[in-house]
Amino acid sequence: MNKPFSFVSIGAGNVASHLVRGFTEKGCRLLQVYSRTGSSARSLAEKYNSEYTDALSELRKDADFYMIAVPDTAIPGLMKSFPFHDRLVFHTAGSTGLEVFDSSFSDFGILYPLQTFTRDTAMDLSRIPLLIEAGNETSLEKMRKIAGLISENVNTCDTDTRLTIHLAAVFACNFTNHMYALANDVLREKGIDPAILEPLIAESYKKSRTLDPLEAQTGPASRNDEPTMEKHIKLLEGNPLMQKIYTFTSRSIQSKRSPGKKKSGK
Ligand SMILES: NC(=O)c1ccc[n+]([C@@H]2O[C@H](COP(=O)([O-])OP(=O)(O)OC[C@H]3O[C@@H](n4cnc5c(N)ncnc54)[C@H](OP(=O)(O)O)[C@@H]3O)[C@@H](O)[C@H]2O)c1
Repeated sequence: MNKPFSFVSIGAGNVASHLVRGFTEKGCRLLQVYSRTGSSARSLAEKYNSEYTDALSELRKDADFYMIAVPDTAIPGLMKSFPFHDRLVFHTAGSTGLEVFDSSFSDFGILYPLQTFTRDTAMDLSRIPLLIEAGNETSLEKMRKIAGLISENVNTCDTDTRLTIHLAAVFACNFTNHMYALANDVLREKGIDPAILEPLIAESYKKSRTLDPLEAQTGPASRNDEPTMEKHIKLLEGNPLMQKIYTFTSRSIQSKRSPGKKKSGK
């Protein structure tokens, strides 16, 4: 698709920053950025020489598409106050469906990028799965062209399937990342540099991609090593929440043990 679209970004956070860069690198023109307070909109707009606003009533009406990348909880309210309903509008959330667009919207959809974005972390968008859905065939066709500008991996996906994928992503990405944060806490509390875990984390990731993660699982829970688990739980005495996380996660690992598996490792 060669047509240089013009667009407005509603939101100027993690996702908006990356997608705006992706679209502008492919020749799209960022006309305006909106944000709640105006300050994040201003800094994103300045990078691309575009306008910015903190008032939905001042949104430019002449863009080809309007990308909504604000926290999920803010989307319904924002859609209720959206000033016009006849231009292509899409949001980028995994767990919010098409129902946020009421029947007065004629051109709408969802473009969910299946990736974890942090505003200032560099990222190649070209292979990120973009899961798209739209209110009608015409909108879907436009969404396909727009998404295809920034990624080679564009798939249509209904709301239920996207929610399931989003749930899996929470386990695979958000929970794993939280476990890294907890591991860092455990070490820092005793004055140990978390960098000591880096080779272990790298190998665990590598193994989980080449083996079935159930087969790759090691550790005390996987070996049913109750004495070691008790020692760990005792070490977490001052932190009942972490004790619960340890116990629940260990129980989950034990429930998935494959009977014939050879136990080894960490
Ligand atoms: N982050 C990810 O990895 C990721 C991945 C895939 C999809 N998504 C989805 O993409 C969307 C945006 O996520 P994000 O991480 O980019 O969010 P974010 O960084 O927290 O977005 C912040 C932006 O939203 C605006 N905002 C915050 N609260 C608002 C409200 N109540 N009303 C209007 N605007 C508000 C902020 O404006 P001010 O700065 O002016 O407050 C800012 O411009 C979400 O639907 C999320 O589920 C995120």
